[in-house]
Amino acid sequence: MIKKNSKIFIAGHNGHLGSAIYRILYKNGYKNILTVDKKKINLLNQTKVFNFIKKNKPNLVIIAAAKVGGIYANNKYRGKFIYENLQIQNNLIHGAYLSGVKNLIFFGSSCIYPEGITKPISEKLLLSGTLEYTNEPYAIAKIAGIKLCESYNIEYKTNYKCLMPCNSYGPKDNYHNKNSHFFAALIKKILYAKKDKKKYIEIWGSGKPKREIIYVDDIAMACLYFMKKKTKETLINIGSGKDYSIETYAKKIMKHLNVKFKIKKNKKMPDGIKRKLLNINLAKSYGWRPTIGFKEGLDLTIKDFKKSFI
Ligand SMILES: NC(=O)c1ccc[n+]([C@@H]2O[C@H](COP(=O)([O-])OP(=O)(O)OC[C@H]3O[C@@H](n4cnc5c(N)ncnc54)[C@H](OP(=O)(O)O)[C@@H]3O)[C@@H](O)[C@H]2O)c1
Repeated sequence: MIKKNSKIFIAGHNGHLGSAIYRILYKNGYKNILTVDKKKINLLNQTKVFNFIKKNKPNLVIIAAAKVGGIYANNKYRGKFIYENLQIQNNLIHGAYLSGVKNLIFFGSSCIYPEGITKPISEKLLLSGTLEYTNEPYAIAKIAGIKLCESYNIEYKTNYKCLMPCNSYGPKDNYHNKNSHFFAALIKKILYAKKDKKKYIEIWGSGKPKREIIYVDDIAMACLYFMKKKTKETLINIGSGKDYSIETYAKKIMKHLNVKFKIKKNKKMPDGIKRKLLNINLAKSYGWRPTIGFKEGLDLTIKDFKKSFI
């Protein structure tokens, strides 16, 4: 049972999701939070990770550390994405098990599910088909992490949960020109087009693939919710329950900012999977719901972006 004074280790506390989890847990009275900087412990180093967990004995490990990126980075750095993710999660999950840590939350993403399956995608459809090529190495690492948690739960009676969110957005997102996710890229392109008085923005691919997005604090609140909840299942989807095409998102952001740019489509860039809307009925059946609407989330994200970049 996780209590307010339980010791909670957040791996990846400086990242987009990890920092939101830190903020939400702290705000809700969980102040015994353990973190470690990458300079001190690179999570790829098995010995250092095992020793750190053994020495600190947390009651719960939250894995928000990973090698993460958008379609370009996933496709270009295929080797790094599979190796680093497998290594980081193996070190943390097995290290937690070796030190008797009973509770763990592992994060992955909706790209674990195959192409061409029924939407919205329920957890039962994991491994029911072929993965989309551009993020296959990343997805395979994440699926291995889920199966590691599930197998330890069965063999060692651990309480290791795997939360699979859709695309997220919000503070501390990655706005790198090539390595970011689509939504961060749209926000950046539109805000800079406004600032630089441009006539158009360019989007990658046809703009037709549909994507579901969730404000990052909603994922952090799902983490808080499920770390305290007993669940039968290891794998639980987390999403907003709605998806729109990438082109529609571009138009929604422009409308929100009261600007209108021509949308040029760079068809040399891949589209990725056509649609990956998650079925979130399982999370809802345990009483969790997303709470931050698109307009509110977008407003907070734009304010945060302007503070850091413009
Ligand atoms: N962003 C999304 O849309 C999204 C959606 C759903 C789920 N998720 C999941 O949430 C998790 C976190 O994603 P994110 O978007 O928060 O990514 P992020 O912002 O890149 O954060 C990842 C964190 O992990 C750290 N890290 C990576 N490699 C490390 C290493 N070898 N040693 C120590 N620390 C290391 C990074 O530190 P450095 O930056 O210093 O390397 C960073 O602080 C991932 O598992 C991802 O699948 C993300």
